[in-house]
Amino acid sequence: MDNISVLISEEDINKRIKELADEINRDYEGKEIRIIGILKGSVYFMTELTKHITVPVTFDYIDVSSYGNQMSAGKLVVKKKLDEEIKGLDCIIIEDIIDTGNTLSMLKNELSKMKPASLEICTLLDKPSRRAVLVDVKYKGFEIEDKFVVGCGMDYAQKYRNLTYVGVIEN
Ligand code: IMP
Ligand code: MG
Repeated sequence: MDNISVLISEEDINKRIKELADEINRDYEGKEIRIIGILKGSVYFMTELTKHITVPVTFDYIDVSSYGNQMSAGKLVVKKKLDEEIKGLDCIIIEDIIDTGNTLSMLKNELSKMKPASLEICTLLDKPSRRAVLVDVKYKGFEIEDKFVVGCGMDYAQKYRNLTYVGVIEN
């Protein structure tokens, strides 16, 4: 077991998630939302967030990753496509963390081609100091320093996704 310290407590996360949901409820009053969860990291955040959403929501999932680094934009690899069309729908992409921004900028580009009515991004965490490409993020839980974090869906070698807090591996 790695030595993991708490960066953001479960209590703070839950409080912030509720605030984000309230904001979304206000912005989408009278509308319906198609939630697009990016597998696997966004699942815990998405579940907690949508419990507090009061407008009608439907769900779809996509599994993507990007290969590249801060120097090259890289390539988007789609491991699982959306099950349904999003044409004319108000969509929110849910992500666990934005690092360079490459994954989301490419994904947003791809999904825009499907002509949704609107397409916003909601992320639990953001590491703005790492940004390599511009991404317009409408809903953001917390900004953090350039640290590798785990928990709340985020993994290190596929472990620790189920931690209830956001932690940093200290070894
Ligand atoms: P980006 O394309 O560089 O923005 O990469 C975003 C993706 O990298 C996220 O969806 C995560 O899967 C992964 N990632 C980035 N930083 C971390 C971290 O600190 N912990 C765990 N996963 C991370
Ligand atoms: Mg991810």
